[in-house]
Amino acid sequence: MPPSKPRLLVTRHVPANVEARARRDYDAGLNPSDRLYDTAELLALMQGCDGAIVCPTDRLDAAAVKRLPGSIKALATFSVGHEHIDLAACKARGVAVSNTPDVLTEATADVAILLMLAAARRAHEGERLVRERKWGSWAPTGMLGVHVSGKRLGILGMGRIGQAVARRARAFDMTIHYSNRVRLPAALEQGAIFHAEPEALLAQSDFLSLHCPATPETRRFLDARRIALLPPGAVVVNTARGAIVDDEALIAALGSGRLAAAGLDVFDGEPQVNPGYLDLDNAFLLPHVGSATHETRDAMGFRCLDNLDAFFAGRPMPHRIA
Ligand code: DGY
Repeated sequence: MPPSKPRLLVTRHVPANVEARARRDYDAGLNPSDRLYDTAELLALMQGCDGAIVCPTDRLDAAAVKRLPGSIKALATFSVGHEHIDLAACKARGVAVSNTPDVLTEATADVAILLMLAAARRAHEGERLVRERKWGSWAPTGMLGVHVSGKRLGILGMGRIGQAVARRARAFDMTIHYSNRVRLPAALEQGAIFHAEPEALLAQSDFLSLHCPATPETRRFLDARRIALLPPGAVVVNTARGAIVDDEALIAALGSGRLAAAGLDVFDGEPQVNPGYLDLDNAFLLPHVGSATHETRDAMGFRCLDNLDAFFAGRPMPHRIA
């Protein structure tokens, strides 16, 4: 008898190529209708499973991890961010956890640039004007926005995605400033100007792009006090996590014109969006699509499976985080 395949729960509908590989190599419980499970359902569905592919929409806090069925030995999150899983609790339970770094770097950096350009050049207002058949004529003063090329870009969090954004921004002749827990070696800095204190970065940021993880320390980092440190008319971009921003403060600064615009792909409490953003023409809003390309989502799914394959073969998980 061939050894039986490990039982795997896949909590969300995943791309066809990922699903095919999961079916081939695991006794896989899939979710083709993509129903969102609450934590109680999730725990019930995990009964008897050896592992699971989970997503940022699955909340596995310490209490939930405590109630994980004893059969669960490994979790692979279909994301690089892992604030939805209590890693310390997983460690304490002896449940291995992996994530998907690297493969979403380029796609997410593309979206940061998309947000920067769209917010600065008023893409949402312009697009609406055309679609609503309200475009009168070209006008010397029509739809004026913020010039991007040659400006200063501040990057908070100079990890893989921050560095990929910097690479792209150099093609716009932007001067790169950054703040990071540790200064990068010169070969990675590529001339970017380091600020040990994030506050010092803000004062230099005509554009500010957020790339730090959501942790208790970064929660509501961009609050009213720090927004006041940005140059007047600055543009804020967030592809990291909504929790890093104090929404009420950002909405007030956009409403008053203190900030020219914001481009946001992530929201605190998403898919709920603070309604204050919805009426602001200078907020360009996307539904967390940073990594949403066919290639990237396949690669993220494969990375989950690579990690689980390694775990169940008794090898180290290549991207183990707990
Ligand atoms: C991640 O991987 O953390 C992203 O936010 C999902 O695109």
